[in-house]
Amino acid sequence: MEIKLDELKVLYSEEEIHSKIKELAKTLNNIYKGEEVVAICVLKGAVIFATDLVRELDMPVQMEFIRLSSYGSDTQTSGKVNAVDIKLPDLNNKNVLIIEDIVDTGLTAKFLVDFIHMNFHVKTFNFCSLLDKKATRKVDVKPDYYCFDVDDKFVVGYGLDYDGYFRNLKYIGYKEF
Ligand code: IMP
Repeated sequence: MEIKLDELKVLYSEEEIHSKIKELAKTLNNIYKGEEVVAICVLKGAVIFATDLVRELDMPVQMEFIRLSSYGSDTQTSGKVNAVDIKLPDLNNKNVLIIEDIVDTGLTAKFLVDFIHMNFHVKTFNFCSLLDKKATRKVDVKPDYYCFDVDDKFVVGYGLDYDGYFRNLKYIGYKEF
């Protein structure tokens, strides 16, 4: 498959994204009530979402980054999660908030949930995702919080890429076939 910029249709606009992120931040601010949080951004796809979300949070935030990968150079997941860089500080007794771009098959989310719980006794754990693609789920996992649903289509923009491109788009788009 090839995707060109002028073929993309807008699924969620910049305005819709920003207003949903503000809503999500409000929910999280109510949950944590000023308690410190370790926000873990899953690179690379969640980088834009995470940087916008954390700036709406009003508690002390320790921001961490890990890098996982599961997609090849096309629109199909390899079905295997690669922990490219998963160095984390001591998360024992911390409020941990994972920030992901999309839950698709769920393999990455499941890997992360298991990884954190196997290695740390966290105080609280929440998994938030910009998008939830429920139709393609292969394992029983769901984000605690998410901004938008996506049906079974490959989306790009606002951090999500196709072969490294389109992460810089302000909207979330897709190609219609
Ligand atoms: P998983 O299949 O739930 O493990 O998702 C793994 C990763 O695949 C996500 O974190 C995204 O980076 C990527 N991914 C899944 N669906 C899409 C998509 O529609 N567009 C771009 N990347 C995607």
